Amino acid sequence: METPATLATLAEAASGPHPARLAVIGHPIAHSLSPRMQQPALDEAGIDARYIALEVAPGEVKAAFARMRELGFIGCNVTVPHKFDALEACDEVDDIARDLGAVNTVRFDPDAIRGTNTDGIGFERAVEEAFDFKLAGADVAIIGAGGGAGGAIAAHCARAGVSVLVLANRTLAKLSDLDRRLNSRGFEALTIALDDPDLAAVVGANQLIVNTTSLGLRPDDPSPLPADCLNGSHCVFDTIYKPTALLRDAGKAGAKCANGRLMLLHQGVAAFRFWFPDSDPEAAMRAGLDAASQP
Ligand code: ATR
Repeated sequence: METPATLATLAEAASGPHPARLAVIGHPIAHSLSPRMQQPALDEAGIDARYIALEVAPGEVKAAFARMRELGFIGCNVTVPHKFDALEACDEVDDIARDLGAVNTVRFDPDAIRGTNTDGIGFERAVEEAFDFKLAGADVAIIGAGGGAGGAIAAHCARAGVSVLVLANRTLAKLSDLDRRLNSRGFEALTIALDDPDLAAVVGANQLIVNTTSLGLRPDDPSPLPADCLNGSHCVFDTIYKPTALLRDAGKAGAKCANGRLMLLHQGVAAFRFWFPDSDPEAAMRAGLDAASQP
């Protein structure tokens, strides 16, 4: 894996043959699979540009945008913890980014820095591909909706017309902003704390259950849900890329299961199309992601 660039080394990366013209910014960023997925799509499209990982410290998003723009970058992806700062640092953001309260994809146009968010559509396409599941009219429970990823997925579910949306979080107070934003658009969600005695019944009543907590990142993390609320009628989507206790329990209960890999793919495809509107990068990106996942 290539060492990430920094703002100090960016000019060097952006010069010479095969210059860097796209990046994913985050902190930390070395683990990101985005370069392994985006570069094959650039190569296949015959675009002479490199997609790199760029380490950006908290508070430096605006400076990073200015530097990338100065060096001729086409755009960038934005990941944790910069998605909220990126919303502020753009000149223009579309309705999707505004609704989701965060930006994950940026384009440096000559007249403006434009931002969007492809996490919601990435999630929607992932559950369609994994489960043949349509969000419109569905019942969905989001575990960890108080975090950034959960909030974006929840906002997208409301936009996509789900009929029931349960927002569960360890800290109930952290749901209030999201709940208010959804209410202001006329959408009523149900909120519940993870330690509520009714959690299993309230969450288990939904067709699609989504984990957006960070529980599962470490191999010994417990599941955020009691195993007895899962059954064979559920579709369980974990935004974490690796096997988790939740998916293990869901598999045992006979539920359909998928992890966050497909969401990574589909948000990446939508980002590529934000930069290159007439492109069809999906096959190349899927192959890149498969190659990156080989041991
Ligand atoms: P981000 O905003 O990047 O998504 P985050 O702020 O760390 O990440 O939030 C991750 C989510 O995981 C939150 O919903 C968090 O719950 P709190 O809002 O109560 O902090 C949840 N989370 C993290 N550790 C958890 C744990 N041990 N049990 C349950 N939920 C947890």
